Amino acid sequence: MNPLSPRSLLTTEGMSRHDVELLFGRARLHARGLRAGTPLRSLAGRVVANLFFENSTRTRLSFERAAKALGADVLNFNASTSSVSKGESLVDTVRNVEALGANIIVLRHPASGAAHLVSRHVRCSVVNAGDGTHAHPSQALLDAFTLHERWGTLEGKTVAIVGDVLHSRVARSNLYCLTTLGARVVVAGPPTLVPVGLEALGAQVLPSIDAALEEADAVMMLRVQLERQKESMFPSSREYAKAFGLTLGRARALKPDAVVMHPGPVNRGVELAPEVADGPGNVILEQVANGVAVRMAILEACG
Ligand code: CP
Repeated sequence: MNPLSPRSLLTTEGMSRHDVELLFGRARLHARGLRAGTPLRSLAGRVVANLFFENSTRTRLSFERAAKALGADVLNFNASTSSVSKGESLVDTVRNVEALGANIIVLRHPASGAAHLVSRHVRCSVVNAGDGTHAHPSQALLDAFTLHERWGTLEGKTVAIVGDVLHSRVARSNLYCLTTLGARVVVAGPPTLVPVGLEALGAQVLPSIDAALEEADAVMMLRVQLERQKESMFPSSREYAKAFGLTLGRARALKPDAVVMHPGPVNRGVELAPEVADGPGNVILEQVANGVAVRMAILEACG
């Protein structure tokens, strides 16, 4: 599944189009099984451990739902109520979780590279559920799946990624995944939040959000990650919304069939005007729903 570790998912970087499309095929099957109330129990007897060292709603619940639907036993771990609070290291923690019988460790961690580190210290599979500002591969796969199901192909489509790209693991993972599937990716955001070197990864950086939106078949609005900013990178949330948010006016100027995406959680009134967050044309809850089937496919491939 991943060139770095055959039965782990650490990043979308280096995933082949064939691998992604195979995964989408399985996700489609799982989505049908979930709708019919007859999910495939292909992980019966396996143990999935959800290790979250950082807060999460969508990813944690989605992996739990996915693992249970596949018939796996699920161990849920919250760092704040674990022996991490007594000083136990990440490596000692995961080695103990593996000794408890985990076949797959799903890891979210604030440090970039944490999932790679863990994968070098355990024999079981590791799924990166978001590591610092580095990668969030399952989010990118569910985002791309959502567009693929809608369009049938990403070839010839333009996806605009807008906002705090600098701190966004979602942006990086999506960039790899979307370009692998043949989409053109354009990026725009505050100059302080758009890192250099994105062109080398296949993106086209545009000078303004309006230039990016004009061309977009889908617009992916990124969450402003205030918790990862050591200093203020823009004057105020209000000014950010005006200059870089998807206001109602900007949403009305999108192509008629353009879709609005957001990985969540949404800062209402900052990246998205409330009317846009709740309006037609956004597929935010479809992304969340698709996350279960896509994560079932990921766990199955790793299990
Ligand atoms: N998109 C996402 O990762 O959301 P959570 O932080 O709620 O898991």
